Amino acid sequence: MSNFFNQPIQLGSLKLKNRVFLAPLAGVSDIPFRRIAQEMGAGLTYVEMLSATAISYKNKKTFDMMARHSSEGILGVQVTGPDAIQVAHAVSVLDKQGFDTIDINMGCPVRKVVNAGCGSAILKEPERISQTVKLAREATTKPLSAKFRLGYTRELINVEDTTNRVLTELVDMFTIHGRTRSESYSTPCDLNGIQLSMQAAAKNPSKAIKVGNGDIFDFQFAEKMQKETGCDAVMISRGALGNPWIFKEILEGKRYQPTFAEWYDVLLRHITYQEEHYGKTKISAILARKHLLWYTKGFPQSKALRDVLNKVEDLEQAKELLKEYAKKIAPHYIRYGDGDYEMHEGYDPKFEMDRQLDRGVGDEEMNAVLSNKKD
Ligand SMILES: Cc1cc2nc3c(=O)[nH]c(=O)nc-3n(C[C@H](O)[C@H](O)[C@H](O)COP(=O)(O)O)c2cc1C
Repeated sequence: MSNFFNQPIQLGSLKLKNRVFLAPLAGVSDIPFRRIAQEMGAGLTYVEMLSATAISYKNKKTFDMMARHSSEGILGVQVTGPDAIQVAHAVSVLDKQGFDTIDINMGCPVRKVVNAGCGSAILKEPERISQTVKLAREATTKPLSAKFRLGYTRELINVEDTTNRVLTELVDMFTIHGRTRSESYSTPCDLNGIQLSMQAAAKNPSKAIKVGNGDIFDFQFAEKMQKETGCDAVMISRGALGNPWIFKEILEGKRYQPTFAEWYDVLLRHITYQEEHYGKTKISAILARKHLLWYTKGFPQSKALRDVLNKVEDLEQAKELLKEYAKKIAPHYIRYGDGDYEMHEGYDPKFEMDRQLDRGVGDEEMNAVLSNKKD
C-alpha cells in the first residue's frame, strides 16, 4: 500500500526509499536496534550523536560507536561540537569513515552538553550556526543536514532564522523538533512552530528535505504532522522504543500492532543481534535491559516480567524468562489487545532520558561494571 510516507525522496545524491526515519538516539540507536528498525522499514537510520571534541582526541569509545553492520544500507551519523572548526574537522573524519550522510546536532538539551557549548547552546549564537554549517559544508561532499529545536526558550524562538541560515549554507536536509531547549516532553510538540520553519524554507530555492520531529507515536500523528506543517518526511524517536513496528504502521498508513508470535520473534531477533554485536557478556545484558523493558509492554501481566528483566545479568537468562512468559500468552494475542493502545500513557521517566546526564537506563550499573572491569 502506498501513502505519502512510502514515496522515495532524494537526500542530496542519495535516494531514500521512504520518508520515515529513525532519529539518532544517544545510548539507544546502536547496531542491534538500527538493524531491527531497518527491517521494519525505516528509510534512514543514524548512529547516535558523537562529540567533535572526542573525535579530535581520537577517543576509542567514540570510534567504536562508528561501527556499522554489513547488512546496513544507507547510514547517517550525527555530531556536535563547541565551535565551527571542531565540528568541521569531525565532519571530515566522519566523511572518511564512510558514513553516507552527516547531521549536525543543534538541539541536544542535556545540561552537560550545553554547558560545553554543544547541542542546543548554538541556538543562542545565530552567527555560529551559519559558520558551523559553512565550514562543515566545505569539509564534505556527502549530504549534510542539521537537527534543531524551535529556539532556546519560548521567549527566544528563532526557528525561521535558523532555517534560513542552514539553507543559505546549503544543507541537504534539516529536522525540526517542535520544542524549545527549555521545554520537557510534558510540553506537547508545537506543530505551528514547525510550520513556521517549513514556511521559511518554502521561500528558499533549496531542495533540502524538511523533516518534522516530535511526539510521533502512531500513524495518525505522523499524518497530522505532515498535513499541518507541510514537512517532507518524519523522524521517529521515542515512538520507536520497544515499538519498531511504528515504521511499518506509518508506511502502511494504518494502525499496526504485532501478534504475540510476531512480537516474540522480533524480540528474540533483537537479542540475537545484541549478542552478535556486544557478545554474551554482562555489559551486553545491561545494555539490552532498557529495550527489554520497552518491548514488554502491552501484553497481560507484563509488569512482573519487567521487574525481573530489569535485573538480568545475561541474555540467556532473559531468553529463558521470555520463553516462560510465552507459555502464558496465546500466539495470536494482539499487543495492546486490551485496548490500552497508548505507547506513552501518562508520564514516564524514561522519556526524559535525553535531559539527564545519563545516556539511558542501566548506565550507572554499566559504568560500575566497566570501572571494575568485572565482565
Ligand atoms: C533516549 C533518547 C536519546 C536521544 N538522543 C538524541 C541524539 O543523540 N541526537 C538527537 O538529535 N536527538 C536525540 N534525542 C532527541 C530525539 O531525537 C527527538 O528529537 C526528541 O525525542 C523528540 O522526538 P519524540 O517526541 O518523537 O521523542 C534523544 C531522545 C531520547 C529519548
